[in-house]
Amino acid sequence: MAEHESSTLKIPGARRVPRHIAIIMDGNGRWAKQRLLPRVAGHRRGMEAVRAVVRACGERGIEYLTLFAFSSENWRRPVEEISFLMQLFALALEQEVEKLHQNNVRFKVIGELGRFDPKLVRLIRAAEEVTAGNTRLTLTVAANYGGRWDLVQAVNRMLRERPELASGFGESDLAPYLALSHAPEPDLFIRTGGEQRISNFVLWQLAYTELFFTDTLWPDFDASALDRALVSYQQRERRYGRTSEQLPADAALASYRIKDTSNAG
Ligand code: IPE
Ligand code: IPE
Ligand code: MG
Repeated sequence: MAEHESSTLKIPGARRVPRHIAIIMDGNGRWAKQRLLPRVAGHRRGMEAVRAVVRACGERGIEYLTLFAFSSENWRRPVEEISFLMQLFALALEQEVEKLHQNNVRFKVIGELGRFDPKLVRLIRAAEEVTAGNTRLTLTVAANYGGRWDLVQAVNRMLRERPELASGFGESDLAPYLALSHAPEPDLFIRTGGEQRISNFVLWQLAYTELFFTDTLWPDFDASALDRALVSYQQRERRYGRTSEQLPADAALASYRIKDTSNAG
């Protein structure tokens, strides 16, 4: 599916490997608590999981990876935790961008950056610029992002640029203004940490995304945990409103399976 194509307007082609994976990285605090460590120790370990999953996605031919790092509601947390997360983000940008660039990863941030420290925003913009031409994997980090914020900012921006649409607009008019318009709709959504909710993550684009929930806490999520999600994905029948009998026979789908190295399902 091309970047602006809509799963509700046009049926996407079948693919064995998801083109776009979106992840709610949850469970850092509980991971730390289980070890009698401060919550922030979980966030630090969570960064390592990010590194491993970015690498694994690149190796598996996934083209887009979107990670929920900080929600518009996470400002409700204790100030010390918020400031630790901001420092961790800045440190990661300083330390990792060169490596991402060498690995041909395009880096993007979506969210309302106005509330961030200007120094952090400069680091983000610089990282986006350096990596803009890379083509292997697009890594999008959602920071101070909320699905409702995204829809509202998209409508506002669209109406500013195209006031004639005030009398009525369609799906495809709005799509280019959404923060994630540089990516196709996610094929697979993963939430770690056991909670089964969307928590105001991408709302519009999840319309036909396959959902995968796992109890694994984010710091423990690694390449084999990713493969379990991929195996589950490959067993889904993406009907987009059609009946099973209407689906085109896809030989490629049957012949290719990610090796399930786990015992659990
Ligand atoms: C997710 O882990 C990371 C962020 C939201 C920044 P949590 O910090 O939510 O971990 P739990 O849910 O408390 O275990
Ligand atoms: C969702 O996790 C946001 C991120 C992972 C950044 P939370 O842990 O904040 O979600 P809720 O509040 O429990 O739903
Ligand atoms: Mg949480």
